[in-house]
Amino acid sequence: MTQDELKQAVARAALDYVVEGEIIGVGTGSTANFFIDELSRIRDRIQGAVASSEATAARLRSHGIPVLDLNQVERMSVYVDGADEINHQGAMIKGGGGALTREKIVASVADRFVCIADGSKLVDVLGKFALPVEVIPMAVAAVTRQLSSMGAAPVLRLKDGKPYLTDNACCIIDAMDLEIRDPVALEQVINAWPGVVSVGLFAVKGANVCLLGTVDGVKTMKF
Ligand code: 5RP
Repeated sequence: MTQDELKQAVARAALDYVVEGEIIGVGTGSTANFFIDELSRIRDRIQGAVASSEATAARLRSHGIPVLDLNQVERMSVYVDGADEINHQGAMIKGGGGALTREKIVASVADRFVCIADGSKLVDVLGKFALPVEVIPMAVAAVTRQLSSMGAAPVLRLKDGKPYLTDNACCIIDAMDLEIRDPVALEQVINAWPGVVSVGLFAVKGANVCLLGTVDGVKTMKF
């Protein structure tokens, strides 16, 4: 099976977690895109979706799925999203696609985070994938120094030779060379630095369920 087929399999399996008649939170990235495509098949059974990025909102709309403003939504049962890495406790690195802040906000309003990922995303220790940190542009140098001082190798994310800008008009610093043994503590430390909008560690509130695509089928991990 290809990686895309594994992503498609978990996206399909995630439909079982969609609650009829409700609003669902939807993440960003290639796996989330497969989920949106699957969701379109049952779009008449949900009220609509809250999107974690402009790209996700556009894809939802292109499938005729109503997109709601999070400010109009009090709660959601479920948020479905991919991950760059997930450990055996349900802590994740996210933000490879640059949507970490909105993903964290939408996920915070949902009762359950359902992570959908191909098997390559499961790790014992987080940190091989560079940890994205979204920062206010004027804080890029200061936050870069802070990351270096804790032993990381920080790199400003670029697009077409210029700083990549998120949907929130902020920058992303990708912190490489981290071995994250205590994701909850690191999330709290980095989040507290002035200028940090959010860090792509989802550990304080991690996944509640992970649907992992493997050659032996979709495995369900509960945390
Ligand atoms: C985007 C994310 C994605 O969930 C993460 O990058 C995984 O992406 P993909 O499903 O394409 O592997 O956090 O900000």
